[in-house]
Order: sequence, then structure tokens, then C-alpha cells
Amino acid sequence: MNGVINANRTLGRRDPMIYGHFIEHFHRQIYGGVYDPGNPLSDAEGFRQDVLEAMRRIHVPVLRWPGGCFVSSYHWKKAVGRRRTPFFDKAWRVEDPNDFGTDEYVALCRKIGCEPYICTNAGTGTAEEMSDWVEYCNLDHEGEFTKWRIANGHEKPFGVKYWSIGNENYGSWEIGAKSAQEWGRLVLESAKMMKHVDPTIELTAAALTDLDWNVNLLKNCGDRLDWISIHKYWDLVAETNDCVNYEQSMACTADLDGDLNKVRGLLTAMGLEKKIRVAYDEWNLRGWYHPNVHTVKQGVRPEDYLTPRDDNDINSLYTMADAVFSACFLNTCNRNCDLVGMANFAPIVNTRGCIFTHWDGIVLRSTYHVFDLYVNELGDEILDFWAKDPAQIEVKDKQGRTVSVDELDVLATRRTADNMLAVAAVNKNASESRVLGLAFDGAAPREYRICTVNGPEPESYNDIGREEIALRASAWAPVPADGAYALEPHSVNVIQFR
Ligand code: AHR
Repeated sequence: MNGVINANRTLGRRDPMIYGHFIEHFHRQIYGGVYDPGNPLSDAEGFRQDVLEAMRRIHVPVLRWPGGCFVSSYHWKKAVGRRRTPFFDKAWRVEDPNDFGTDEYVALCRKIGCEPYICTNAGTGTAEEMSDWVEYCNLDHEGEFTKWRIANGHEKPFGVKYWSIGNENYGSWEIGAKSAQEWGRLVLESAKMMKHVDPTIELTAAALTDLDWNVNLLKNCGDRLDWISIHKYWDLVAETNDCVNYEQSMACTADLDGDLNKVRGLLTAMGLEKKIRVAYDEWNLRGWYHPNVHTVKQGVRPEDYLTPRDDNDINSLYTMADAVFSACFLNTCNRNCDLVGMANFAPIVNTRGCIFTHWDGIVLRSTYHVFDLYVNELGDEILDFWAKDPAQIEVKDKQGRTVSVDELDVLATRRTADNMLAVAAVNKNASESRVLGLAFDGAAPREYRICTVNGPEPESYNDIGREEIALRASAWAPVPADGAYALEPHSVNVIQFR
């Protein structure tokens, strides 16, 4: 494919928060994941230092917590202070010791240098409980809950700027699910009380790409919201874990901006496109595997619903398919940076996350290297790129249907810090290298290098003692006269120019 980069035409500047993450009280994300007090690799406060270091390296900008479905029957007051009350988590049907609560979460965010983003309980919770949480975190000295925070040893406010009202309260699987009408009312009253406590917070609420739900939400609360949240998992395998393979994953890249276009149209129709941005605050190619809990039929024996969750930890599931898909999704967020201000990979640690933990260390899965590449090597200004002759490839989706997708996914950027041009170039072809021909308007770079995330095969993966996928950078070399750049099969690349 050949294309032209117009270095004089900036389409927008992406918010760093599109490289955000999510962590939930599910399986080993918190306990045995980032928080592992009994492990010699953990610091004095119980946080895994190897995990913290990996999170710092990809400059996690924002970390959404504590759920997810977990939050819809979670009561934050039982998890702060000296006496913690263990509770039976009715979402995931396990006892949570409540050792990890708001104070520990804020300490975690401070250690990795990211913004906290708290999702509140709009399932069994109330507007008052949500606004009490804002008070606990953000007021300086006034109020019962502020004084409780101070008594717990935290003199200064936590300054939690980002708050969500609820998780997926539209879904029948969610505890405390709501109708569109109930949702509009609850969000309005919750937003009112939360902003009466701290008018500086930024609020989002669970939304859908479903018109009725969103119209009702925005009609009732559009003037009180700063964001609306949408979630997407493309391969829904909660009951089976029969994950899509590489080719089927490429079929999932067919319409990555479809949901965004619907939401964009709705916000524009309601005159809210300049006020409200999208927080894609849960996304992953692969839905999580947790059979017999999200359904009417609940597992009775642990082997029916609890031990199967360990199969999220099978590292061979997370291949170059995850890396290539995730790079295409992040390119989509960059292209829509006027609308998308936040995106949270779901989750960051264990389950389908980019960092896998075991007792003696961590495994950096394929998606981790995509975040490392994009956060550290790609620009923040999105430039105009004209693809002259884009090629398509035909792939089979999971249902065996033939789907046409762009063979290459290219995004042109400039890094404002040093004015360097950087082009993200994804080659989805499973077996063939492809040449990307690049010409420039308004720039004449002399040298280039290619930073590549790849492994030997489409189904390559990383595991304990096995590192097939890595991020590697070529040496700087003169820009080729023909402007042709070779892209390996099934690879994610950033071509840098100076
Ligand atoms: O499968 C995990 C769940 O996916 C999260 O808890 C929820 O937010 C989403 O439905």
C-alpha cells in the first residue's frame, strides 16, 4: 500500500488516557495479582514491585477500579479503616477480605503515578453512598467521612478526579440492573449529590450504543456528565473459553469505529458533542471466562463456576492476534481522539490482561508490548494520512463467514516533545510481508527506524521461561529513495522519522 503523510495537517491530539487500564476484584487481578502481601517480591505495603515496575514502564495514565460487575453490590465503607469487614461478593460469588480498599487503591495509583478512576455502586448502592465516597476521597477537612479518612492516616485529600456512576447497569447479568427510565433518574440524583460534594470531579455513567438507553440518559443528565462510558469485548467466551484464533481475530477488526460513529451521531444530534467525550472504559478482544455466574443457572460446585476461572491464566491464548487487534483498536481511538478521551484495557493484570503474575515473577503478554510501543514510541499529534491504494484481505470469522478487512492499518503521528514523525503500521496478513510506501507533504526526513512487536508465528505467545514476542528496534538508517518500508507478517510497527 502507498500513502501520503501531510505533516502540515494535524487532525487532533490524543489524550494520554486512551492508553488507560482497568483492574477489578475478580480472580487474581487484585489478590495474588498486583496486591500480594505474602510474596517476597512485594513491598512493605504488599504491592508486587515487579508488577508496579511494568506498569510504570507503560506509563499507565489512569486505572479504573474496583469493577466491573463486582462494584454493583460493593460497599466501600466496609473496606476502609482499621477494621475490615470481609463480605461475600454476590457478583463473583467469592468472599472478599476487603484488605484492599480505597486507601490501598489510592496508594497503588500514587506508586505507579496514574490518575485514580473510581466506579461506584449503582446496583445496590445509593446516591448518598456514592457522594459519601467523594467526600471521603476529596474534601479537605469537612464532613464525617473526610474526618474518617484523616483518622485513617490520610491527612490530605486523595484528589480523585474521575468517577463513574455504575458499571453495566443496563445488563440483566448486573446486580441491581435498571431500566432506561430508572437509570436516567438514578444518574441524575447521584450526579447531583456527587457534584454538590466536589464540583470539580469529572463524571461518567454507564452507556451503551443502544439509542433508547443513551437518549434517556443524556436527556436526563447530559448537562451533568463529562463522559459517557461504553464497553466492548469482541470474542464473548464467558461460558466456553473457546477463544478466536488469529484469522478470526482479524475479522473482529472489520468495524472498530462502528460503535463510536453511533455515539458520535447521537451526541451531535443532542448538541453534546463538544461537552461529552467517550470513555471506552472496558475493552479487550477477549471477554473473560467465568462460566455459570452471569446466567440464571448458577454453578453449585466450585468446579462448575470457580476453578474454571483459572483457565483465563493459560498464556498460550494471548498471541499476536491480541497484539495486532489491540493495535488496530488503539489506532481507532487515536483517529477518533476528538471523541474518545479515555480507554481502559480490561484488565491490566491477569485474566485477559497484559501482565501475568506467578509466584516467582511476571510474564509480559503480547499486548503489553503494544502498550510499550505506542506509549513510548508513537506521537501524540494525529496527522492526516491518505492511503492511495489500500488493499483488503478476506478472512473467516468465528461463524465461518467471509469478512473483508483492510490488510494494513496505518496511523500517522508527530511527537510534540521532539517533533519526530512516527507512523503506526499494522500488517494483519498472517503469512505475507507487505510493503508500505510512504511519501511526505511538508516534511523531508533523512533517517528512519522501525520499532516492531512480533513473534515467529501468528499464534506465538509468551509464558514462564518462554519469550517469543518482544519489542525490538532497528538501527537508524537513511530513508530509502523509493520510500518503501517492509512490514513483517502479523506485526505491529512504529516507523520513526527524523
Ligand atoms: O467479564 C467481566 C465483566 O465484563 C466485567 O466485570 C463487566 O464490567 C463486564 O461485563
